[in-house]
Amino acid sequence: MRVAVVGATGAVGSTILGVMRERSFAADEVVPFASERSAGRRIDWGETELEVRALGEEAIQGFDLALFSAGSHTSEEWVPRFAAAGAVAVDNSSFWRMSDDVPLVVSEVNPGALDGHKGIVANPNCSTMQMVVALKPILDAAGIERLVVSTYQSVSGTGQRAVEELHDQAQAVIEAKELPAPAVYPHQIAFNALPQVETFKDGDDYTTEERKMMAETRKILGSDELGISATCVRIPVYTGHSESVNVQTRDPLSPEECRKLLSAAPGIRVIDDPGNGLYPTAVDAAGQDDVLVGRIRRDPSHDRCLNLWVVGDNLRKGAATNAVQVAELLKVRGLLRRAPAN
Ligand code: A2P
Repeated sequence: MRVAVVGATGAVGSTILGVMRERSFAADEVVPFASERSAGRRIDWGETELEVRALGEEAIQGFDLALFSAGSHTSEEWVPRFAAAGAVAVDNSSFWRMSDDVPLVVSEVNPGALDGHKGIVANPNCSTMQMVVALKPILDAAGIERLVVSTYQSVSGTGQRAVEELHDQAQAVIEAKELPAPAVYPHQIAFNALPQVETFKDGDDYTTEERKMMAETRKILGSDELGISATCVRIPVYTGHSESVNVQTRDPLSPEECRKLLSAAPGIRVIDDPGNGLYPTAVDAAGQDDVLVGRIRRDPSHDRCLNLWVVGDNLRKGAATNAVQVAELLKVRGLLRRAPAN
């Protein structure tokens, strides 16, 4: 089994390598790929080191699996090339997610969608990922008619440069120095909240992130009729996305029943004792694979609506962990294709 990790020097790619090692992912060879700039760099891999390679037609031959997190442009070109060379590509970018031929898979939610894949599998957007993990048990038990979600998203979802931008701005504010001009975000991110995650494309009044959340949630939950409205906000947190989710169910569901359902579901940890100050926070979620859920309560304005607070590590379950879990499912279920000899 030969595995390529494309974007291995980035925030998500390096987490993929870490998660593979933590889960003792059974690979005979792991090859990290990044841009030409990083070719030759060495990455720690337990007792040994891996050498970063640049993408090229010869370099991509003979892989069974390719885990991608190198941005949409790289995925547009190189995901089909890996698939044509015999690998199954699991792609973290948004480029292939909404293609009809490409399953969009969350391991606890719709693993059956992997059947009949055509060499490309997509990993959802991080905000969508943690929300659908929390919603799946509710969907199965009571149906879902409508969702209203507001996110509070950390900067690591944007990449390493955004983490540095927050750090530099925060330091300047604390030291009462002149702030460096924003480069990654359109406004100051330190000590601020930006109601813009990604861009307003072609005059749309929703951002591309909000559109992704709405479309991907429908695709994963298999419902074109599901009503959903999203507002995505970037906040000055390094890691961990938080979400306020208002769920309108088809059948009545009490907060107590909901708490019980979620407590028994895979990949979820319920932390819900607000009177004693117990509810999930981004700091709790960072470094964890579980999606944390708390503040489960009735919406007083509607007898079939509940409010939830859903928190997850955007780099782990929101990206890297799910990609590795999907790879494990492909392997266990015999859905990897045999790579041609190099
Ligand atoms: P590099 O480190 O060489 O730039 P992040 O999301 O944290 O910014 O990381 C993006 C990842 O995608 C990095 O590993 C980066 O490599 C990689 N990458 C960016 N552009 C390319 C490209 N054209 N080909 C391959 N990898 C790329």
